[in-house]
Order: sequence, then C-alpha cells, then structure tokens
Amino acid sequence: MTNMTEVTIALISDLHYSASRNLTCPSRRGEYMPALLAGTVKYLNRNIHPDLVLCGGDLINEPSAKDADLLTGIQAGILGLLDMPCLVIRGNHDLPQDRFTRHFPFCPTADAGFVRIVAFDDPELPGFNSFRTPEDLDRMTLAAENWDGILFSFQHTPLLPPGQCMYGVENASATIARLRESNYRGALSGHYHAGKALMECDGLQFFVQSALCEPPFSGTVLRIGRKGIISAEPFVAGDVSRLIHFT
Ligand SMILES: [Fe+2]
Ligand SMILES: [Fe+2]
Repeated sequence: MTNMTEVTIALISDLHYSASRNLTCPSRRGEYMPALLAGTVKYLNRNIHPDLVLCGGDLINEPSAKDADLLTGIQAGILGLLDMPCLVIRGNHDLPQDRFTRHFPFCPTADAGFVRIVAFDDPELPGFNSFRTPEDLDRMTLAAENWDGILFSFQHTPLLPPGQCMYGVENASATIARLRESNYRGALSGHYHAGKALMECDGLQFFVQSALCEPPFSGTVLRIGRKGIISAEPFVAGDVSRLIHFT
C-alpha cells in the first residue's frame, strides 16, 4: 500500500443513453449522453486526475431495444478514453449480465491507494429494489480479509439504512450489519436519480450519486482520507446550457 494520505475518486451514475428523446420520462436527457460523457471524460482527465472513476450503472435506458448493445459499446468506448482506471457496475436498465460483461467485464474489487471498492451486481426485485445474495454477503467479508485500508461497498440500487429512500436493498439491515462486522467504511450507490447527500449513520458513511442524465447533469469528486470520505463535491462537465438549447 502506498504512503498517500488522500485518495480522489470520481463518481458518475445513471446515464440512460438513448438515441432519441425520452418521451416517457422527459427529465431523462439520455440523448445528450455521448456529448456529456465525453465532456466528463475530458474534464476528469484534464482537471481532476482522480485515482479511480466509478460508474454506477444504468448506462442505457432500454435494454430490450435493438440498439442496446451498440449504445452500451459506445459508452464503453468513451469511458475507455479515461486516463485512469474506471470501475463500471450494471444497473437495472442495462443489458443482461452475460451481454453487459462483454462490454464491461465484471470486476469484483478496485483498489485506489488505501481505498478498496467492492462491487456488487445485486439481483433486481419488483418495485425497482434489489437484494444482496448470501454468496455476496460472504464476498463482502472475503474482500476485507488481509486489507488494512478502508472499504466501500459499491452497488446500483441504494444501500442505505432502512427508511432513507424509496428504493433499496431489501435485506439492507443484514447487509449493513455485514458492512460493520467486516470493517467497511460505508456504501456508494446510484439508481435514485435525485441522489442522497453524504450521510453518516452509526459510524458508517452512505452516498447516493444523482443521475448524470438529469439536471444538474453532475458527477461527484470524493476526497477520501484514512478515516473516510472528507468531502463530496459535485462537478458538471462542460457547458450544459448549450446542449439544452439544441432541444
Ligand atoms: Fe437510473
Ligand atoms: Fe436504476
């Protein structure tokens, strides 16, 4: 492990890329996505230089569409232009696991200095919720073994204390108990497009990234010290107002 005192992680989520305007959910501007994502990559490469980039899923809007593989591949190509490692997880709007992993091979953990991110592809439940499988509860513990840095669980559907969000991990209490037992520092999530500000709850930190495809079209730069997240600053890549004027 390096002697670094601070790790910088950039987090984006919920891109909902679509080839045309989303008339069912007009607030989702997935048709902006190639430009917004390319702007984000350029901004992170030039201005932020994070140690790691996290993408929290829902890269496309409609997994059953004919162009679902094409649009996912375009996103993979743009994210491939990042100068630093990028960990991408699958959301409930993404391709099924076997096709998604052709574009983004599943990566169970990503380390940046003293921070280990442990990624999960939690199965979906009705009502846009999810649950953590027994196997993945055990993987949480295994990922913490022989690691003396800090750990965060990273999943699409919010892992939050019960009652904090309309969507969540059904067995959140058991999953959060496992976080605590295994010395995790907290959990990073997406899916809930409004996002949730950084919260500290019984010694754990929780953060839900807002959707890149909806105003204010932002991601977050997390500064992480050895005791946890120090700050969560939103960033907006590029002049979004120009894109909006194209509508
Ligand atoms: Fe989403
Ligand atoms: Fe989602």
